[in-house]
Amino acid sequence: MELMLVEVRGREIEAVVPLLLLAEPSEPSLRWSLNHMADTVYRTDLNSEPVGAATMRWQGDPAEILELAVATDQQGRGLGRRLVQLLADEARRRGKQQLIVGTANSSIGNIAFYQKCGLRMDHVRHDYFWYERRPLFENGIQKRDLLVFRLDLREEGSRRRR
Ligand SMILES: CC(C)(COP(=O)(O)OP(=O)(O)OC[C@H]1O[C@@H](n2cnc3c(N)ncnc32)[C@H](O)[C@@H]1OP(=O)(O)O)[C@@H](O)C(=O)NCCC(=O)NCCS
Repeated sequence: MELMLVEVRGREIEAVVPLLLLAEPSEPSLRWSLNHMADTVYRTDLNSEPVGAATMRWQGDPAEILELAVATDQQGRGLGRRLVQLLADEARRRGKQQLIVGTANSSIGNIAFYQKCGLRMDHVRHDYFWYERRPLFENGIQKRDLLVFRLDLREEGSRRRR
């Protein structure tokens, strides 16, 4: 399976917005993130076909995955895990020691996914979603707090070398 990480710039970013909206369904929030937070936007291609996207904040260490998504019809095939691995490889290449990603307390599937990708729970940003205009629920749980997961890239690297 040849999955490539491709940097997307300028007008090309519009083409990956539908994918990124899977990760951040509020378009104003996504646009704010693209304009103010993201340093790099990526598309992932499987055999030259776009199947996923991610946005990264590279400033500082830890580096942070802001949004990450796999196309709905491609989910459940290991592509999300591979995408996280490619971003971790890129973070290592940039000399980063840690990679973090946040997900809502109510996003049970994502909480499972990031742990299966090797990340561990790090901390909780309480009331992170205070700005939501009305209460949002997923899995019958109110979306309130951000759970931050962390991957220690040095540990990962040494485990891989063993
Ligand atoms: C989250 C997401 C990226 C996962 O991508 P994916 O390609 O479906 O995931 P993978 O097939 O690589 O799954 C890797 C592992 O995580 C598990 N996993 C993935 N999604 C899961 C879910 N919703 N519930 C439980 N486990 C899940 C898989 O079962 C697999 O475990 P296994 O190794 O034991 O089989 C994808 O579902 C997605 O794009 N969702 C919408 C956007 C989003 O919510 N992004 C994350 C927040 S920024």
